[in-house]
Amino acid sequence: MSILRIKGGRALSGSIRAHGSKNAILPMMAASILYPGITVLHGVPEILDVFYMIEILEQLGCKVKWQDSSLVIDASAIESVSLSSCMTGKMRSSVFLLGPLLARCGEAKLGQPGGCSIGSRPVDIHVAGLQQMGAELTEENGWLRASASCLHGNVIRLPFPSVGATENLIMAAVLAEGETILHHAAREPEIGDLCRMLQGMGARIKGIGSSTLEITGVDRLRESAYTVMGDRIEASTYLIAAAASGGELMVENVLPGQLTGVLTALSICGCDVMHNQRAVYLRRKDRLRPVPYLRTAPFPGFPTDVQSQMMALLSCADGESIIHETIFEGRFQTALELRKMGADICMEGNKAVIQGVQRLTGTKVCARDLRGGAALVIAGLTAEGITEICHCTYIQRGYAALAQHLVDLGADIEMVEIH
Ligand code: UD1
Repeated sequence: MSILRIKGGRALSGSIRAHGSKNAILPMMAASILYPGITVLHGVPEILDVFYMIEILEQLGCKVKWQDSSLVIDASAIESVSLSSCMTGKMRSSVFLLGPLLARCGEAKLGQPGGCSIGSRPVDIHVAGLQQMGAELTEENGWLRASASCLHGNVIRLPFPSVGATENLIMAAVLAEGETILHHAAREPEIGDLCRMLQGMGARIKGIGSSTLEITGVDRLRESAYTVMGDRIEASTYLIAAAASGGELMVENVLPGQLTGVLTALSICGCDVMHNQRAVYLRRKDRLRPVPYLRTAPFPGFPTDVQSQMMALLSCADGESIIHETIFEGRFQTALELRKMGADICMEGNKAVIQGVQRLTGTKVCARDLRGGAALVIAGLTAEGITEICHCTYIQRGYAALAQHLVDLGADIEMVEIH
């Protein structure tokens, strides 16, 4: 087992380039099976979830190879439409295969999707949308079976702007007969990036970036290459780490307009934040100020994926902050770990009240999900003494070379193998 060991108290300083976005690359990899040939994806992050998705694609019959930081995916032959829970249980994003497999092969059989345990995470919106496109879906003995002799377009209104369901329905609609209109679709930037990648493959999609998407099915797609967007969640995590440590940081390869909620919160905390078109600079000098009320919401609201990191930051602000988590009910489990480090956090339902303390104290803590793990790293960077974080494979699912980047920025952090 490996643990992360951090000696807190050093201010981060320097610059970093965001890797390709985890939440954009995973659906793109799934989308590659829509075309029976080669799809090239550039700027792919070397994270565990990408390696899991490669295994899934290979299980289906694709040939996948790395060329530096690009993935060359050859989906000429799909040999299986079935993924057992051994594969799908490794990550939630396995559900992205549902739409593409139905569109390409007319059937799919998936085990239970896994992923971070941050709430119940049902797939009813995916299922209902695909049913409206003519698919039949049944769930039995832990298997989700889907079939469709021909997917057809429809007007679909999502009951909630689910990111994954929006992406699944887009991928299914690209090769469906006729026009699909998705109302109340999610607007996360990763969805726009997926749409642009699909356009490069020959898909016809209008309304990118809005909550109404119009997709006109085409008969076939074509070979394509696409560079994935920079990871706005990774960028936000490093900016918050710099803020927590009292340092300064430039993050490149991000679009500041995609970070508005996070940058506003960091400004309220008293950080100096500046940006140009593709980079953000942050500096913190004085004690952090609290954020009186912070609510997570679908894009362009404050991202749930940055909530835990913000909680770690606010644990040492000068006063009371309230965080209201509206997307995933299980996302406060990290508060229990932060409390072990001396944070004063009370949970009342989906609200957390944080009374800032002067300083956290290093101790042994446990990552319980990906972003919560990153939050513990942030807490450890600022804490007095040594913090040891176990279960850090969660962190490796979404952050490429995290410890090395933090060392380069001046942190005292190492990955240690323990037996
Ligand atoms: C994606 C992101 C994840 C992010 C989340 C919300 C990827 C790979 N993951 O996850 O990092 O935290 O968006 O921004 O892109 N829901 C249902 N029924 C459904 C689908 C979702 O009730 O069929 C609920 C979920 O339980 C949750 C909420 O809707 O409460 C948001 O889920 P969704 O937007 O679908 O998130 P994911 O696509 O799983």
